[in-house]
Amino acid sequence: MHPDLISRAQQAAQSAYCPYSNFPVGACIHSSTGKLYSGCNIENASFSLCICAESSAIAQMVGNGERLISAIAIFTPTQIPTAPCGACRQRIFEFSLDSTRIYLCTPGNEPTKKTITELLPHAFGPNNLETS
Ligand code: THU
Repeated sequence: MHPDLISRAQQAAQSAYCPYSNFPVGACIHSSTGKLYSGCNIENASFSLCICAESSAIAQMVGNGERLISAIAIFTPTQIPTAPCGACRQRIFEFSLDSTRIYLCTPGNEPTKKTITELLPHAFGPNNLETS
């Protein structure tokens, strides 16, 4: 694992804009080219416009021309490891392989490691758009 991955996810949570939920989330992606891309959740008074930390980090990665997540750390301020929401599992799937490592991180505990297949079995993906 990249030595800074977990700490960068935790650090990203400090930038969260979450006045409505008070639930700061941070994510950090280690891309296939070895770079790190962080993101935090960004809420809105129009609640349905909230952006998850994982989505922010993916936007950073893709906006920099990258397409493959080697690993992603997701930090939540909880005791129990918290998996990404369904929409973010789908977004992670789009840019993952089954070798992609997903680390669920909480304060003071060892990260819990998952694969995207564990989090999103029977996923709908790019291959499902092949009709012939
Ligand atoms: N949140 C994330 O950032 N990632 C997830 O996978 C789950 C939820 C954020 C959205 C909202 O700002 C807050 O956590 C409470 O749902």
